[in-house]
Amino acid sequence: MPNLILPFEIKKDFPIFSKIMRGGNRLVYLDSGATSQKPRQVLDAERDFYELHNAAVHRGAHLLAEEANEAYEGARQVVADFINADLSELVFTKSATESLNALSYSFGNSKPGSRFFLEPGDRIVVSELEHHANLIPWQQLAKRTGAELVWFEVTPEGRLDQSKLEELINEKTKIVAITHQSNVLGTIVPLENIVARTHEVGAVFVLDACQSAPHFAIDVKALDIDFLAFSGHKALGPTGVGILWGRTQYLNEMEPFLTGGSMIESVTMTDSTWAQAPKKFEAGVPNMAQAIGLAAALNYLTKLGMENIANHERELTKYALTKFSELRAVTVIGPKDVVDRGAVISFTVDKIHPHDVGQVLDQYGIAVRTGHHCAWPLMKKLGLVGTTRASFYIYNDESDVDALVDAIAGAQKYFKV
Ligand code: ALA
Repeated sequence: MPNLILPFEIKKDFPIFSKIMRGGNRLVYLDSGATSQKPRQVLDAERDFYELHNAAVHRGAHLLAEEANEAYEGARQVVADFINADLSELVFTKSATESLNALSYSFGNSKPGSRFFLEPGDRIVVSELEHHANLIPWQQLAKRTGAELVWFEVTPEGRLDQSKLEELINEKTKIVAITHQSNVLGTIVPLENIVARTHEVGAVFVLDACQSAPHFAIDVKALDIDFLAFSGHKALGPTGVGILWGRTQYLNEMEPFLTGGSMIESVTMTDSTWAQAPKKFEAGVPNMAQAIGLAAALNYLTKLGMENIANHERELTKYALTKFSELRAVTVIGPKDVVDRGAVISFTVDKIHPHDVGQVLDQYGIAVRTGHHCAWPLMKKLGLVGTTRASFYIYNDESDVDALVDAIAGAQKYFKV
């Protein structure tokens, strides 16, 4: 199949790629797992909003307020379409981290009788693959409620071990929260059996789609999940906007997390009632420009085609894995093939600390992430202090992989190993 993603052309939309890096090098950006770069279309959408339509949504009676409403609610429709959700199910937050905290605090605020109410004896299931944003909120919820936190283990190859599925997700389980794709290893978790088992025991399934939604098509209905979170800034969008999606019935049953203006139905000095979702979860003047920027980003991705993006990244990962296998004293941490695997390569270089590898790569204009990648328990499980991580996206091509591989050899020469 021909590669329909043309990074050379795509890069022309991203002003940052004209920046000259250290040593006069071009930018080789391999840190999209942390945050993606932004195309002009996103920057323009935000600027256009501020220059021409800026007003507080859901409040004013003037022309600008009307235009701002249209743009903001239009953005909600774009995001809903992107994951095949219904409009009323789509909540804008400020980040994926906030989305997951909103869920965990909302569940924690539930009253006895609610399906979300937790008490000692109940169980929350996560996995060792989680980054901190999808671990700590559940860990702390367990502490606050007395519920038990249990987790799927990771195999030495970096896959989720599903052999104890029925034992882990048992009749006591109320919540199962799992990542779709590991930010450290690139492992994509096959969800079908986990989601089916979650529903079999009457629990709800929360999907952390931070590393998947920007890279391949997500259909919340086909996945049959109950909640999903992802961030805008990893999907070409601005920082300061995240998505919380949930089934309408559940969102309506849930307690709000943040309270204040716009999320109410009625208010007296001593009590309040809540608006329907999604408003119930959007207290205060929302992040309008960021939501509109995110819609421009998702339109950009949709125009390229999520299938084309996934194919491009698969081919690039295959190329990178082959090149890495030829490197001396370099170990890829995680799956060694492209089956159920995204475009993230974590690696170690014998006798060189990941931070030192990163610093040498920087001298070549190459941006990677180093360290524990906000997934400390996973690092401990793998017996590592950290890794160097290259994460690819639509603007990367084989020349970026070649630059990386050459620079790793350069680091080995520099440290004389
Ligand atoms: N979770 C982000 C990463 O993997 C920040 O780099």
